[in-house]
Amino acid sequence: MTGSERPLTAVVLAAGEGTRMKSSTPKVLHKLCGRQMILWVLEALEPLGCDQVIVVAGHGADEVAEVIEELAPRELPVVIVEQAERRGTGDATSVALAYLDETDPEGESDILVVNGDGPVITSETLAELVVMHTTVGTSATILSARLDDPTGYGRIVRDSDGGVTKIVEEADCGPEEAAINEVNAGFYCFDRPQLGSSLELIAPDNAQGEQYLPDAVKLLVDSGKLVEAFEAPADEVLGVNSRSDLAKAESILRARINQFHMAEGVTMVDPESTYVDAEVSMGQDVVLLPNTHLQGETSIGDHCEIGPDVRIVDSVVGPRSCVTYSVVREATLAHDVTVGPFASIRPGVRIEAGVHIGTSVELKNTSVGEGSKVPHLAYLGDAEIGADVNVGAGTITCNYDGEAKHRTVVEDGARIGSDTMLVAPVTVGRDAYTAAGSAITIDVPEGSLGVARAKQRNVDGWVARKRRG
Ligand code: UD1
Ligand code: CA
Repeated sequence: MTGSERPLTAVVLAAGEGTRMKSSTPKVLHKLCGRQMILWVLEALEPLGCDQVIVVAGHGADEVAEVIEELAPRELPVVIVEQAERRGTGDATSVALAYLDETDPEGESDILVVNGDGPVITSETLAELVVMHTTVGTSATILSARLDDPTGYGRIVRDSDGGVTKIVEEADCGPEEAAINEVNAGFYCFDRPQLGSSLELIAPDNAQGEQYLPDAVKLLVDSGKLVEAFEAPADEVLGVNSRSDLAKAESILRARINQFHMAEGVTMVDPESTYVDAEVSMGQDVVLLPNTHLQGETSIGDHCEIGPDVRIVDSVVGPRSCVTYSVVREATLAHDVTVGPFASIRPGVRIEAGVHIGTSVELKNTSVGEGSKVPHLAYLGDAEIGADVNVGAGTITCNYDGEAKHRTVVEDGARIGSDTMLVAPVTVGRDAYTAAGSAITIDVPEGSLGVARAKQRNVDGWVARKRRG
């Protein structure tokens, strides 16, 4: 993507604890639109064609490594090195360089250093940064941005000719520096030997007592080297330090995800209240109504209508299906299925084509065959429902005997009368019926009617006798 001849090594700084998050989860593992922060950064690096990506982990290093090994883009050549003590971004970068010096001492490369807490950066901007660095031939090129509110960021100080001279952290700013609204975005491209020699000189002589990577800029400029800044769009540079930043970053990413799907042919009646995770895929002419949450690895087929008020997690919904006011988790719905309102489709459910699951129905670990209907008020758990079955209102599988779960089988074409208790394990045969209000405890053979309820008797004149007293 950068078209550069020179090898490119990325260094991702991800060792910090993220104290201001007040969390037991390492900062870079907090999720945005269902994807961990560090993975957003690695996804942004992926198209750049880096020869190596060195992630510097520290706080929660094992957890961070586990997530990267499992979920980072497969093609990305990632190694993880550990920063033993958090001595600042300069020290973290030194740890990565020490690894490089050990494994590839003679290697010539540009080093792209990336803050692991910058999930809203895009590949395009990173590529432009690298291109500018390689074409201009600077010792360092830093990504900058102009922000209406620069609070919290390092300020970029320029001389009277407009040349970059140094970066001053917020805590070390005097009033004049604090008023500068051009900030360091936390993404830098360095010439490897120049970076190496300046890192050796960075001292923790600042308000936070840390080795600041941005101090490399002043060291390079003071030794006569050229440093340039490349300006990024303001909505790409948010560094996440707090839960409030996390929410801001999530809203930027959510808007991008929604834009992407709308461009691909999805209607969102109200994008502001439509929440689609990073890994979700959708077909064409899907309509998402307000308050729809599509989460995890979910896919929605062509011409589906989802919402309002729907949450679908890790599920597959086939074409032309309709889900309204419902929750669907770890389930598979074939095509032309309707679900809701107020249905709960729990893990392990498989619903075949043309099925209707109606109002206030709960399904768990159950399959429902083609064309069957469960229109109202039912609980089906650990059940296998055949094709063209009708399940009457109020039907319940009594699947739990207090110790173990048992299966219910309802074969093709059966009719389950309203308010039937199916006491598992039990089978209702092909085309069989159960009478309304029955507690079915023994199998109903094919083509039979199962009746299991007290016989009704009517008491003549009972009301009049009662009123006379
Ligand atoms: C940093 C920059 C600041 C810039 C801002 C952009 C420094 C000193 N300051 O500030 O100029 O405007 O990012 O968002 O670099 N980390 C380590 N090891 C450490 C310390 C930090 O790996 O010892 C990692 C953190 O996990 C984080 C990144 O480096 O991902 C940045 O560190 P952070 O403490 O968030 O720096 P900021 O104060 O935000
Ligand atoms: Ca930060």
